[in-house]
Amino acid sequence: MADLLKSVRGMRDILPDETRVWQSTERLIFEILEEFGFEEIRIPIVEQFSLFQRSVGSFTDIVQKEMYVFKDKADRILALRPEATAGVVRAYLEHQLYMRKKITRLYYSGPMFRYDRPQKGRYRQFYQVGAEIFGGESPYFDAELIIILGNILQRLDIKKYIFEINSVGCDRCKVEYTGRLQQFLSPHKDGLCHDCKLRLQNNVLRVLDCKVASCRRILEDVPSIQKILCSDCKKHQEILYRTLEKIGIEFVENKNLVRGLDYYTMTVFELKINNEENAVAGGGRYDNLVADLGGPKTFAAGFAIGMDRLCNSVIPKLENKMSIFVFFLGQKALQDGITLVNQARNNEIRIIADYTERSLKNHLKIADKEGAEHVLILGEDELSQQVFLYKNMKDGSQRKIRFEHLSNFLKGLRNA
Ligand code: HAM
Repeated sequence: MADLLKSVRGMRDILPDETRVWQSTERLIFEILEEFGFEEIRIPIVEQFSLFQRSVGSFTDIVQKEMYVFKDKADRILALRPEATAGVVRAYLEHQLYMRKKITRLYYSGPMFRYDRPQKGRYRQFYQVGAEIFGGESPYFDAELIIILGNILQRLDIKKYIFEINSVGCDRCKVEYTGRLQQFLSPHKDGLCHDCKLRLQNNVLRVLDCKVASCRRILEDVPSIQKILCSDCKKHQEILYRTLEKIGIEFVENKNLVRGLDYYTMTVFELKINNEENAVAGGGRYDNLVADLGGPKTFAAGFAIGMDRLCNSVIPKLENKMSIFVFFLGQKALQDGITLVNQARNNEIRIIADYTERSLKNHLKIADKEGAEHVLILGEDELSQQVFLYKNMKDGSQRKIRFEHLSNFLKGLRNA
């Protein structure tokens, strides 16, 4: 036998037992987003590499270390998207969606790619469902995003969760904080890792996400941005916090939360569930990104949920769609039966046909092994009598169903 090929490291198959949970979870999230007036956008998986340099940031780990970058046959430098906010903003500008509505609410779902070290809950291909709001300056838009996540948790019956929230400040605050951070870190320069030495000059805020132990030690006494937030930033945070308190959403202020993407301004947040270390969702405000990518000044905020992590914590609900297995004995039964069964199909019951020629005994054996509760049989005798034979595998009872009654019988079975 030839060697079996395996999936690529960090990329995995999601098999039918899991996809059932994924489908119902995705459906629920889309439903909630639609209820809040979000509209779906579908964007490409491949974008120009420069889009991510200009949005996520050249000095972030994502762009420096984790991207799948390649040249196409025309020597264009392209990348598999590591996240989708940049692509959604690109599409928002390319199609001038800002002309369509004052407030634009978009959602998306699909695979993202980061060449990260694979471990539990961390993959190189992972899936996000994300939402972005364009055109809203008020902190109540930030609150809405967190409320949506809260509603999702509630409907998924996830009770143990916490939102960690912080502000990374507006432009002015960020400039001031950058200066302070440089002042604080410069005397410790020799103790910083190679990457952080470069970050010190190029993008000092990214030192805050460094995971190297020597850098973490230096960062223990780092001044918090909270100390220099301007009154507008403080007011924005206050309104957000009071709103969440009023609604009853559990959160804490995490003064060290900066998130590893450059585009954030003011509010940033992460959602953790069941005391897990890894965030299940993350997001925040990015009031400069649209303008930085060549568009008009546009307030914006959003989040993305990591579906691999969320679905891992969702308790599968019992399947409520009933299945009936059907098989045919003989060519004539097959020829007529496939049409008859098709006429009786409806969206309330799953009809699973096996067109293989086998004996009745073998068919029943297989149906039993696969856990079938309801079976329909069509053989030559049944065909001549214009009936199906229905067999209840649980209690062994059986009865004849006339062709013209099959549709109603199946509906009745569902409601029984
Ligand atoms: P992010 O925090 O980089 O934010 O990713 C959001 C979520 O994606 C994470 O909380 C996590 O659940 C999941 N995730 C990230 N990396 C991995 C991985 N390697 N394996 C499994 N899951 C992963 C963003 O991507 C922003 N675009 C969110 C956003 C939207 N901000 C504003 N709008």
